[in-house]
Amino acid sequence: MKLKKVYAFILSALLLSGCAAAEAPAQETAAESTSESAAAEEILSLESASAEETEPPVISEAFSDENFSAEKRGTVILRYTEDEAASDKGALRIFNRNNSWDGVQYNAEKFRGNELEAEGSFRSANPSVRISVQYSVNGNTSYNTIVSVDTKEDSYSKGSGKYEIPKNAENIIVYVESDRLEEIYIDDLSVKVCGEYTYYPEAVATEYVDTSDYPSLKEEYKDYFRIGTATTSNLLDKEPYIKIIKAQYNSMTLGNSFKPDSILDHNKTVRDVEKYMYSPAVKFDAVKKELDYARDNGLTVRGHTLLWHNQTPEWLFYKNYNIGGELADRETMLSRMENYIKNVMEWTEENYPGLVRTWDVVNEAADDDGGMRKSLWYQTVGEDYIEQAFKFARKYAPEDTKLFYNDYNSYQTRKQNDIITFLRPVVEAGNIDGMGMQSHINVDISISQYMAALQKYYDELGLEINVTELDVCRGKGDDWQEEQGAYYKEFMSEILKLRKNGIPITSVTLWGISDTDSWISSDYPLIFNDDLSRKPAFDGMIEAVKNQE
Ligand code: XIL
Repeated sequence: MKLKKVYAFILSALLLSGCAAAEAPAQETAAESTSESAAAEEILSLESASAEETEPPVISEAFSDENFSAEKRGTVILRYTEDEAASDKGALRIFNRNNSWDGVQYNAEKFRGNELEAEGSFRSANPSVRISVQYSVNGNTSYNTIVSVDTKEDSYSKGSGKYEIPKNAENIIVYVESDRLEEIYIDDLSVKVCGEYTYYPEAVATEYVDTSDYPSLKEEYKDYFRIGTATTSNLLDKEPYIKIIKAQYNSMTLGNSFKPDSILDHNKTVRDVEKYMYSPAVKFDAVKKELDYARDNGLTVRGHTLLWHNQTPEWLFYKNYNIGGELADRETMLSRMENYIKNVMEWTEENYPGLVRTWDVVNEAADDDGGMRKSLWYQTVGEDYIEQAFKFARKYAPEDTKLFYNDYNSYQTRKQNDIITFLRPVVEAGNIDGMGMQSHINVDISISQYMAALQKYYDELGLEINVTELDVCRGKGDDWQEEQGAYYKEFMSEILKLRKNGIPITSVTLWGISDTDSWISSDYPLIFNDDLSRKPAFDGMIEAVKNQE
């Protein structure tokens, strides 16, 4: 990952000369911003009416006085500071940040369909600050990093990056954020168009191709394992998607709807804290459409996910659900954990009997720097929280439901060893059935190392294997489509070989359908293009199963 970042940085530096160099004066629209929340909708109406539509848009902020056009994002307070600067005089101080995405934001609607370059100087105790872009395609919002700048507390660091905004994007917003919540000083921020500018007043609707004559992945692989995809309920409003999912896949994972932040009911819980103290309230509106679709079209579902450090609201972990107070004690958290697992599993089985055959019980518990991640589950329950979660999951899961652990980079030696260490007691207790390999990979990842890791999970723990979130980020060359296609083909050929050699691989799930709806769309990691035309990656998967040695 590190290497990739450095590479992207060098590349963007080399390409810099290709970008429009015009420096426009800062738009002097908003003085010190005092408006309440800078909701996305609000800033979309702030477009300058006088701007020439054919002129390339520019965001350019020197922060040399109190006039700046930055809008607040989240709960922040923005202050112009005079004594601080990367260049000239003055900078913007962003503080009172409560979420990683709290910072400043700019309407970037006019960049639709164009490549942009964003640049800025930052000072922060955060180890890094990002310039990111948010937009929606097909009703799915994605959040993408344009550039991540490593920052220091006592001096400014500058960085720039490029990003191509799709023609079908809506509600485009460029913003500054950072994972940790320390304040950020920002200076000399600019966003410009690279190359020729084309103005798209609104999102260009995608014209989908006819997919009915494609070979079918689920048919071709039916003697080996299930082929799955990740869904969102928005996609199920679109006829071409409904059709392709039905034709190609026999398993699906709800990409977001089954996660704790979508299931846990904050309002209901805090309205009666006494009642819900040990069993937070849950709601299931978000999952119904996708589960109905799966049931009605003969797909099985992987339940994703019960315990995770992400997409899990923080209030869950506090005494009386009161963020800012004390963390809840171990016994309280064990009860909340048990009841959450119980309520989710029981509701699912009652309403959709037999549909969810597999649960990712714990997701991403390994730390990238070794050992277990010090998540709020870890902090409140303690080191055995994984064992406890699987114990409860086994207790409430319907018979024959498979219980999985799921993680990314789980093919890497150190992470694999950590995972094996903390799963061993769960295996010994008989409470886990499988290892989920997320497999967010790229064309430079060694397939033989990956396969050796799969073999090792089986040899050491005897676990069944699912590839749960496959996507393969493209390379940088012109022939990236072919390169990626060859990678998919070899990857699947090797998976099939392991399967033949007796490793119980029971499903391979792709994390999305077309590149547009990927969570990392700018890496073009999936097997269908935006219009659902097939990529060499799709053909590679078909060839792998047809031409087995
Ligand atoms: C991603 C979803 O696809 C996005 O829509 C969401 O914004 C963030 O999460 N590992 C996981 C998945 O286990 O749940 C994540 O899914 C991708 C990484």
